[in-house]
Amino acid sequence: MSKNKILLVGGGQIGGNLALLATQKELGDVVIYDIPQAEGMIKGKALDILQLRPHDGYDVDISGTSNPRDMKDADVVIITAGIPRKPGMNREDLLSINIKIISDVAKNVKKYAPDAFVIVVSNPLDAIVYSFFKVSGFSKNKVVGMAGALDTCRFKTFLAKETGLSVQDVQCMVLGGHGDTMVPMLRLASIGGIPVTELISKKRLNEIVHRTRFAGGELVNLFGNGSAYYAPAASAIEMAESYLRDKKRLIPCAALCEGEYGIDGYFIGVPTVIGSNGIEKIIELDLNDEEKTQLNETLHAVKKTVAETGL
Ligand SMILES: NC(=O)c1ccc[n+]([C@@H]2O[C@H](COP(=O)([O-])OP(=O)(O)OC[C@H]3O[C@@H](n4cnc5c(N)ncnc54)[C@H](O)[C@@H]3O)[C@@H](O)[C@H]2O)c1
Repeated sequence: MSKNKILLVGGGQIGGNLALLATQKELGDVVIYDIPQAEGMIKGKALDILQLRPHDGYDVDISGTSNPRDMKDADVVIITAGIPRKPGMNREDLLSINIKIISDVAKNVKKYAPDAFVIVVSNPLDAIVYSFFKVSGFSKNKVVGMAGALDTCRFKTFLAKETGLSVQDVQCMVLGGHGDTMVPMLRLASIGGIPVTELISKKRLNEIVHRTRFAGGELVNLFGNGSAYYAPAASAIEMAESYLRDKKRLIPCAALCEGEYGIDGYFIGVPTVIGSNGIEKIIELDLNDEEKTQLNETLHAVKKTVAETGL
């Protein structure tokens, strides 16, 4: 049986961690693709990770390249190509640069890996995944944006920290766009089956929701030069693994809505099921009035950024 091929487009901070996690989980052979100026750096990362193999005993290959032809026949493509935020920037400020990059990348992925499942990570996420979809012409089940998986992990982390309970027992999800208007679904959050409203005061819950919404910015300010990379990489790998191993995980992702939640023609964070057919399903929840209002606000923000792509 041939191994899966995982193509990482962008070998920077997130790309390097994606490479490490993909090999450690033995998801398949890994190819890191980046621009020619970064070729030494990604070849170095690939070689370094290759030399880690004897410690773990996993048998997968990893290489770095700037030749688009090496994208050929990738099964999964994870795109982090572009620039990250600096303090004072919001995700939308990245659009003008990252839109040009994603258009080039989409043409190459379409040419060399037309059957791949594509996970977009680059920001502003909801507009960049939309652009990839438009330029590549891929079917909607094969294109998805990573945001909800990460935002949900952040929400889970803060709920666990607040109660001192294991993060393993926290269940919750964050929907909507990957920006400050995202919608942490407090009503559905529980720990060991107990609603968080029974365990945490309303005031603290509001503060946790706020911290979740601005968690990316908190890290940008701490780093001073770039954005988060460990947790984003782990979140994208969770999605890739669910596809490759047909796990049918229920993960909030930016998927193309065509009528779901009253949204038509936009990628936005909704609960999805990921299996060997890609995005196999969008689960529609019965939202209350407050949640509907919040989802409308986040949709408004997504539409505004998508309009700026000109696509
Ligand atoms: N969706 C999310 O939840 C989330 C979370 C964190 C960061 N991000 C975004 O992910 C992106 C990557 O972040 P990072 O910290 O890894 O940035 P980084 O600067 O460390 O890495 C980006 C890499 O992309 C490469 N690149 C640029 N143009 C390219 C092209 N045309 N083809 C291939 N590679 C190209 C760069 O050379 C660089 O190595 C940013 O846009 C960031 O905002 C998204």
